[in-house]
Amino acid sequence: MKDESYWWYIILQAKADLEEVFYYLAQASGSIGSEISIDQDDIRAKLYYRSDKGIDEWVERVLPLIEGFKGISVCGTGKEEWQPWLKWHKEAFPPLEVGKRLVVLAPWHKDEVPSGRIPIYIEPGSAFGTGYHASTQIALELLERHLKPESRVLDVGTGSGILAIAALKLGASSVVARDLDPAVAEEVRKNVMLNDITSGLKLEIADGTRGFDDTVDLVIANILYEPLVSMLDSFKRVLDEDGLIILSGLLFKEREPFVSEMGRSGFYAVEELVKEDWWGVVASCKAR
Ligand SMILES: C[S@@+](CC[C@H](N)C(=O)[O-])C[C@H]1O[C@@H](n2cnc3c(N)ncnc32)[C@H](O)[C@@H]1O
Repeated sequence: MKDESYWWYIILQAKADLEEVFYYLAQASGSIGSEISIDQDDIRAKLYYRSDKGIDEWVERVLPLIEGFKGISVCGTGKEEWQPWLKWHKEAFPPLEVGKRLVVLAPWHKDEVPSGRIPIYIEPGSAFGTGYHASTQIALELLERHLKPESRVLDVGTGSGILAIAALKLGASSVVARDLDPAVAEEVRKNVMLNDITSGLKLEIADGTRGFDDTVDLVIANILYEPLVSMLDSFKRVLDEDGLIILSGLLFKEREPFVSEMGRSGFYAVEELVKEDWWGVVASCKAR
């Protein structure tokens, strides 16, 4: 049973300027909040987690994620009483307007939809994709601009399901939402219900496009540089002739090598978007 009388926390530390990476790690590991402190060259992040899982389970989620980054280590874990946190937690997710037509809201803000915006309700929980990360915002904004009505969409690395839900609300006819992590299934289910979505979405626990033998009009993926590079050819395989890919989760400094990799796989950039240190791209197999 859920015991919400306390939160767990994990403290990470690093030497270099890794603030953005800490925010990424917090979201990717399912943290419900983080405090980051910088003292000259040292950075510390205290990442908070729900107590419905044991601390060992959370540490096991964090360790493989930090493997990819040099110099980050876990330097402590502990428990913190819940009371002040509930308030913090609720206030920490104000309605977030994205692009021209979307607003991302926690369920307790159901009555606060700004007029003319499409609400995307997301329970800030244990899967990545609350909408507050710049890479998710980039993906949402590009989706809003490029999704054509009745499109068939493949969302690779769905996390909370935020992009899949947004695609359906923006007029996609169907979305296959895939993720490697079976833990996202419950989060996606909750978020789909919050948004009153009753059809059009299929969730698959699967690696990239592996075993996907259909074609789609749009592939959207907010993952990291290496996995995205390795998936480019497979995105081409599942894309219809006039299809588009929307990729995010890339740092602006990775733009140049990524555009070269896209070129090798036969993709041309159609639009690029930068937020903070993050970069995203819409690409097509046809030069425009
Ligand atoms: C950065 S989160 C993005 C979540 C959400 N789509 C968003 O935009 O906020 C990346 C997600 O991709 C998933 N993922 C990573 N590698 C994957 C792969 N090879 N195949 C499917 N999912 C993958 C992770 O489990 C995680 O849920």
